[in-house]
Amino acid sequence: MTTLDGAHVLVLGATGGLGSAIAHRLTGEGARLTLSARDPARLATLADSLGDSVLTTVPADLTRPDAPTAVLARASAAAPLDGIVNAAGVVAFGDAADLDDDTFDELLLLDLVAPVRLVRAAAEHLAEGGFVAQVSAVVAERPMPGMAAYSAVKAGLTAFDAAVATELRRRRIRVLDARPPHTETGLADRPIAGSAPRLPQGLDPAVVAARIVQAILDDERDLPSTAF
Ligand SMILES: NC(=O)c1ccc[n+]([C@@H]2O[C@H](COP(=O)([O-])OP(=O)(O)OC[C@H]3O[C@@H](n4cnc5c(N)ncnc54)[C@H](OP(=O)(O)O)[C@@H]3O)[C@@H](O)[C@H]2O)c1
Repeated sequence: MTTLDGAHVLVLGATGGLGSAIAHRLTGEGARLTLSARDPARLATLADSLGDSVLTTVPADLTRPDAPTAVLARASAAAPLDGIVNAAGVVAFGDAADLDDDTFDELLLLDLVAPVRLVRAAAEHLAEGGFVAQVSAVVAERPMPGMAAYSAVKAGLTAFDAAVATELRRRRIRVLDARPPHTETGLADRPIAGSAPRLPQGLDPAVVAARIVQAILDDERDLPSTAF
């Protein structure tokens, strides 16, 4: 069992539909939080709603090469870090042939390269017994046409998580890869390109957040889409 009471957890993408639900759930378990995303005003509003459990907020654009290391350093300076939840991400829709280079670069940088950089840096900042939870997606298991690039970056993240989990086990750091199905956060309505296909009703973000936090508490290492 992992104890979250008093633990210091960095939440990336904290202002998002999933990130904010996870932040609230972690606070409910007694965790102290560092919150990160790009928009400082939204970070401040979220911090206000979470009260004293928030140690600090760190505005950062994770597509920048130095950002994951810099955010980890700022979080660690606030208090020794016990865990990281990475819920930052974007989606793009449309046939791969129609996707422009800038869109593909942003998808790759935020949804795959940043999580890789984050885990590399986390090995230095997390104590033994720490954890990293990454939010991948159901499309890592079932790639979808019209989301080929998004499916590919999420599959890449899930593959990375599986391999690096074994590497970090030697340091007693746990990596959890979570692959939620479609969830009603509004993400599909603000893609960086294209427009969403007709999607079935998604899951409640609070339910998805609760399942991810339960997996952290229970020392689970893999949360396939069927676990939600
Ligand atoms: N919603 C779903 O159906 C679903 C299903 C499976 C997996 N997921 C995954 O879950 C994660 C969270 O999704 P969500 O639905 O919660 O989306 P969301 O509500 O749009 O939240 C995205 C978060 O990422 C942050 N962000 C965006 N670009 C960033 C950047 N360049 N640098 C740093 N932070 C950035 C956003 O804040 P700022 O804009 O202020 O930076 C926000 O906090 C994503 O990885 C997504 O792929 C979502």
